Amino acid sequence: MNSSQFRRAASAPPLPNRTVSFVWYCVKQFKFLMLLMLVLESGQALGGILVPYAIKNLMDAVNLGRANLPLWDAFRQPLLLLLALNLMEIIFSRSSGAILIIMGPRLRQRTSRLLYAYLQQHSPRYFANHFAGSLAHRISETAMSVNHTMWSVLCDFWPIAITFTVSVTLLLQANQGLGLFVAGWVLLYVLISYGFATRCQPYAQSYAATRSLVNGKIVDAVTNIMNAKLFARLDYEREHLESFLETEVQAGRRTFWYMERVRWFQFIAAACLKVGTIAYALMLWDSGQISVGDFAMSTGLALLIISDARNLTRRFLEFFEYIGNIANGVDTIVREHEIIDASQPAELAIQRGRIEFKQVCFGYEASQPVFAGLNVVIEAGQRVGLVGFSGSGKSSFVNLILRNYEPQSGQILIDGQDIGLCSQDSLHQQVSLIPQDPSLFHRSLKDNIRYGRLQADDREIRQAAALAHADDFIQAMPDGYDALVGERGVKLSGGQRQRIAIARVMLKDAPVLILDEATSSLDSVTEKIIQDNLDRVMGRKTVIAIAHRLSTIAHLDRILVFDQGRIVEDGSHDELLARQGFYHRLWQMQAGGFLPDQAEAVE
Ligand SMILES: Nc1ncnc2c1ncn2[C@@H]1O[C@H](COP(=O)(O)OP(=O)(O)OP(=O)(O)O)[C@@H](O)[C@H]1O
Ligand SMILES: [Mg+2]
Repeated sequence: MNSSQFRRAASAPPLPNRTVSFVWYCVKQFKFLMLLMLVLESGQALGGILVPYAIKNLMDAVNLGRANLPLWDAFRQPLLLLLALNLMEIIFSRSSGAILIIMGPRLRQRTSRLLYAYLQQHSPRYFANHFAGSLAHRISETAMSVNHTMWSVLCDFWPIAITFTVSVTLLLQANQGLGLFVAGWVLLYVLISYGFATRCQPYAQSYAATRSLVNGKIVDAVTNIMNAKLFARLDYEREHLESFLETEVQAGRRTFWYMERVRWFQFIAAACLKVGTIAYALMLWDSGQISVGDFAMSTGLALLIISDARNLTRRFLEFFEYIGNIANGVDTIVREHEIIDASQPAELAIQRGRIEFKQVCFGYEASQPVFAGLNVVIEAGQRVGLVGFSGSGKSSFVNLILRNYEPQSGQILIDGQDIGLCSQDSLHQQVSLIPQDPSLFHRSLKDNIRYGRLQADDREIRQAAALAHADDFIQAMPDGYDALVGERGVKLSGGQRQRIAIARVMLKDAPVLILDEATSSLDSVTEKIIQDNLDRVMGRKTVIAIAHRLSTIAHLDRILVFDQGRIVEDGSHDELLARQGFYHRLWQMQAGGFLPDQAEAVE
């Protein structure tokens, strides 16, 4: 297994990134149940395949006549065998079915759980590059395919292998020539089917890919339905989709035509076996080499083999499709984790909250640096405002403190501890962020606020909501604190969503607080109320607040002015105004309270 070759979070399951090893990793927990199933499936297959043998015995007995014996006494043995075989088939197959029921859903749960646990450890960059919907789809597809792969092996391939082996053995016993004829047929058939299936796989995979592409297009179109309506582009969207639906038709036809070729092969091969066996057996019977019973048995076996063989081709085709699905899921999800804790991570302990950037070089792409050797210290308990034009690096600065991204070189220290060496959980427990566009869970408002501190009781939740000036509007909602807020919180206004996010963070009460345009969606009156409450809550916390509206940060202890990844000015509001520089120009410009959008505006 090469699974240990790449970086992965210690808390993630050590999933292999090769398909077969991955499947084994998921199913190995059930190996005893699977072994039991193999035994039961063997029993069932044997029960089925021995029926023609029992019929042969019966026919031979019939052929001998029953002399003067009563019917039952004359044919007791073959009849009992027939009965026993049928009983065996029923019991074995249903016991195997019961195990499938016990194991199937559990296996699916295990695969989903493992993939989800692995996925959780991926970095923000990974999630920015993958669609949430498509990741969720991959997990469920992969889990389903692991199940189907297992059933194919246990309930299809294995019994078919037994059927083929036993029938050939029986036929060899009856007559060597006949046995060899059928054995040759089986061998050729399996090889050719396998060849067909592997060659069909690319067709099946590209068909599956077009299906999910079309799916993605429809989801995108539905998500953006309001755009389509507002621009009166409903016809345009239908036509746009039409071209993708057409590719799906073409890909579907290609796959089905290929499968149709396989079926031609199947039918012709089956006819050859049927006619060949009957003709051959008839000749042998005619020359006295086999009995009537043997004749009946060979015909019966040929029919059984044909029905299993037909299954086999279909199963092969499906099997490769499942394998393709799994490969796809594993390839997307089981990748190197970008940001992982050290093998023995320290637990970050924030006593005071002093933050230091030491020679930090960072770019989202190494070739496009945002910060080149940034040095800055934010003292414990200091409340700092970050201002600067859009794209100047304010959010990136915050991203680094939260370790959403890691610097290419340099260190970020909190109270002297390198956050790169501390566990991410300990960092995130002690640093709070209120983002500009917070998203909420599709759970009740109460649960969303409680997310800040799971042990909080209802009174504390209401208190936090009141501080965030959210209590009033929540009370006014029909379901109050139990109201559901829609996917990502779409049923709330932007400002309401922000207030829930603020309440959540107030409840968390972490020693370092970061606000990235946290009150940007609020009207000035509400903003002022919350600002006062925030100031009270901030207490002696270290606070970093990003704002375009300078009035929201003017009263803070210190202001850092960012320009193209550099801190160009640093001081209190009054100091910076007195300096008559960059900040001063911004302050003059903002009259209404906002930064101009263009750098030229302040030149
Ligand atoms: N996830 C990302 N991947 C790649 N580049 C990014 C990413 N996020 C930001 N950038 C780039 O990094 C630079 C700094 O962006 P950043 O988000 O830090 O700016 P900002 O000061 O927060 O701007 P704003 O005021 O608009 O929020 C920009 O050039 C931006 O295009
Ligand atoms: Mg930003």
